[in-house]
Amino acid sequence: MRAVDLIQKKRDGGELTPEELKFLIHGYSRGEVPDYQMSAFAMAVFFKGMTASETAALTMSMAESGDQVDLSPIHGVKVDKHSTGGVGDKTTLIIGPLVASVGVPVAKMSGRGLGHTGGTIDKLESIRGFHTELTRDAFMKQVNDIGLSVIGQSSDLAPADKKLYALRDVTGTVESIPLIASSVMSKKIAAGADAIVLDVKTGSGAFMKTVQDAEALAQAMVSIGTNVGRRTAAVISDMDQPLGYAIGNALEVAEALDTLRGQGPEDLTELCLTLGAHMVTLGGKARTFDEAKSKLRKQLENGEALAKFKAFIEAQGGDGGIVDQPDKLPQAPFAVEVTADAEGYISAIQAEQLGLAAMLLGAGRATKEAVIDYAVGLTLRKKVGDTVQAGDTLAILHVRDNNDAARQVADRVRGAYIIQTERPETRPLLLSVVTA
Ligand code: URA
Repeated sequence: MRAVDLIQKKRDGGELTPEELKFLIHGYSRGEVPDYQMSAFAMAVFFKGMTASETAALTMSMAESGDQVDLSPIHGVKVDKHSTGGVGDKTTLIIGPLVASVGVPVAKMSGRGLGHTGGTIDKLESIRGFHTELTRDAFMKQVNDIGLSVIGQSSDLAPADKKLYALRDVTGTVESIPLIASSVMSKKIAAGADAIVLDVKTGSGAFMKTVQDAEALAQAMVSIGTNVGRRTAAVISDMDQPLGYAIGNALEVAEALDTLRGQGPEDLTELCLTLGAHMVTLGGKARTFDEAKSKLRKQLENGEALAKFKAFIEAQGGDGGIVDQPDKLPQAPFAVEVTADAEGYISAIQAEQLGLAAMLLGAGRATKEAVIDYAVGLTLRKKVGDTVQAGDTLAILHVRDNNDAARQVADRVRGAYIIQTERPETRPLLLSVVTA
């Protein structure tokens, strides 16, 4: 087999066989297929697309390129959850304990953040003492004991995807549905779950700018999962503004605590109940979605979800005292108000700009090596649809130093709020669901 023949076949609209895709992906992984041929292949896929079975075969070749986690020592149906990324997205912190509290085992591997979106691991590490480096055996034992563990992602998970994603990033081939779908699903499949729930974001702050594109991506991922024997469901949710009110590691943990206490923001609570209910249904702990959702709502009201979060923090060495005393979380020394310079309705909030603002304050990493400040970030006071008067507070910055740099970030945040005189049309947070 020669890579050039396979590139030509795809270029001319042909369908590659699983063996041909394996040849390309494993060859690329081993350094036998060079970057320039892989770039040409990615571009051919970008223009010609892939069939569902080609996409599934590409996914499996990437999943098989490294470590494949065997979660079979964990009892029950293991259900994983993945979000295509968003500003202020702290859903894993809430959904993990929530669904574990009704008996769905959650064995989760998460990443650190880079750029404008924070990673779950960073958020958890803002809790004093919490550690995410567990041996595989300790990880599985903890899930069998308390139903939940979250650890850092193995660096050997789908290495072919890591290499291809980096190449796509510099060759204009990121925005291809089969390539994105296979990239996400290869990591989920290698991580070993039996079933997968996907949160596909759409809107200004997301990869997929339109609902149609988000649905097409969701459909591609659901059919990959189904093709390879993992029950998969996807929820399309709006990312035209940040989720909840907090952006920044410890601030997001505090908001997750409020939500687990049943006192969280409505959008965040609704998204967590919806994704969680799909996980509970796929995990076989409820017959219908509605039954699962009301079961989970009860767990927020009766304190069981919060108690599970505390048990989880303590099992991984963290200070469980933050559950009853959230002020024990890292606190920034200064608060800077961002005020509106006009009156009207908030018609949009550029989520990506707020993510960048949080990063500039120190809540995220501009480079892989950067050190995070867990305490800093922003708390929004206004969201889309709210009314404001000039001088009203739009957001509060939690900063380490009250200096010029903080004031520049305040200007960026002010600029991210779009204020208009007419009442804006708002769309619902939850837009559609794709199941097999
Ligand atoms: N996230 C991924 O993991 N891969 C992509 O291709 C795009 C987003």
